[in-house]
Amino acid sequence: MSVELPPVCDAVLLGEASIQLRVAELGAQIAEDFADKDLRLITVLKGGLFFLADLSRAVDGPLAIDFLAVSPYAPGQGGVVRMTKDLSDDIEGAHVVLVEDVVDTGLTVNYVLSLLKGHSPASLSVCALLDKPSRRIAEVPIHYRGFTLPDRFLVGYGLDLGGRYRNLRFIATLRDEAVLS
Ligand code: PRP
Repeated sequence: MSVELPPVCDAVLLGEASIQLRVAELGAQIAEDFADKDLRLITVLKGGLFFLADLSRAVDGPLAIDFLAVSPYAPGQGGVVRMTKDLSDDIEGAHVVLVEDVVDTGLTVNYVLSLLKGHSPASLSVCALLDKPSRRIAEVPIHYRGFTLPDRFLVGYGLDLGGRYRNLRFIATLRDEAVLS
């Protein structure tokens, strides 16, 4: 399942090798920037799980990982986000990199950054594998960016359609029928 293109998909947009190459580059940059620092990689469940797993192993140096979960309020409430799972570890004085699979409207990162700031980390950066700037509502800083993409519905490498296809090793576009159904 994770190597073949499912029928709902149109084409592979980013193959496994391209993703892993970029993840290795991002990991090397983060390792250099935070050498000898108390580095924490924090992601937002569930989409960021796969990127975090690979990115953390691409950083040559000690670090800790942690997870948050958020969920949007009901539609019509202005896209506000609320937290459904808090961090496990204290991040005061630590160097935190928020790891996201995709920054779309920016509302999730915007909310999570404000939440993390309240815990007084020594520094706070954002690492996003995918950036879809055309969808942005809230302007957010992205310090480490994997790929800038146009506004297409995508699945794979953490991105889902109805909870499925996150386990694909590549990122694929969807057939129009699948997006509309
Ligand atoms: C995705 C993704 C980001 C968020 C980005 O999560 O993992 O957290 O959307 O979108 P935004 O920039 O418009 O806020 P989603 O809410 O789909 O949940 P998931 O991670 O469980 O798939």
